[in-house]
Amino acid sequence: MSVRRKLIDVNNSPDPQKPLKNQKALVTGANSGIGEACALAFGAAGADVVINYVSRPEEAERVVKSIRQNGTRAIAFQADVSQEDQVQAMFAEMQKEFGTIDILVNNAGLQRDSRFQDMTLEQWNTVIAINLTGQFLCARAAVREFLRRGVVPEVSTAAGKIICMSSVHEVIPWSGHVNYAASKGGVMQLMKSMAQELAPKKIRVNGIAPGAIKTPINRAAWATPADEAKLLELIPEGRVGVPDDIARAAVWLASDASDYVTGTTLFVDGGMTLYPGFATGG
Ligand code: BGC
Repeated sequence: MSVRRKLIDVNNSPDPQKPLKNQKALVTGANSGIGEACALAFGAAGADVVINYVSRPEEAERVVKSIRQNGTRAIAFQADVSQEDQVQAMFAEMQKEFGTIDILVNNAGLQRDSRFQDMTLEQWNTVIAINLTGQFLCARAAVREFLRRGVVPEVSTAAGKIICMSSVHEVIPWSGHVNYAASKGGVMQLMKSMAQELAPKKIRVNGIAPGAIKTPINRAAWATPADEAKLLELIPEGRVGVPDDIARAAVWLASDASDYVTGTTLFVDGGMTLYPGFATGG
């Protein structure tokens, strides 16, 4: 079936609410925040989902339960994405349970903030290991399976889709967070270089760059009304984002509706990257 034919099928699908029907997705760091929202949205869009987590298994189980209630399959799997053996074990389990993988959301990430002169090597290494090396290890495992299996036209026009969760800080420098900004700049080039290399194999790789989204990672930035007001000075749309803002973008990038999109970062940031200081200055 040609790509064009398949797109027409998608648009005329009897079930347009389920653009990820019969697809198998793995979302890393899926027991809270943006990862949880993506996992729930993928389940609602018809996908079976592996919920990766590293701590707090009860939260992973809550996400699993909620997806199952919607009628698709879900399992939780504990793995530190920076550890090669744990990533391999997770993909082996997914293969055993679901038979393959169609969509990877490289979402697991963290911050270890510090003034530059005080930043320890451990703070640097932890952030690079989880945010960047973790994305490499999971993407490599997913790509090996995409290449082995190839395109299955009834499932998707692509052999596989990878979504790299980046940040506005892939382009906005961030004082006090150089390890984090460096990791996200790295994610951008990891994503683009993979996209260039793998496009001929019908594997699409894209990034999402969230701005300030209300999740545990940045609670201090919006915890009090005064904090939130200060944060809003950086957001032209005048609201802090919510995880569903990102999940909706992720469903689109994972679906055949974005068949011709690869190697791009979709900024979902309420305008944070629009140099808000220049709205009144310059
Ligand atoms: C960071 C948040 C921050 C946001 C906007 C995100 O990538 O994880 O802590 O609020 O960027 O600066």
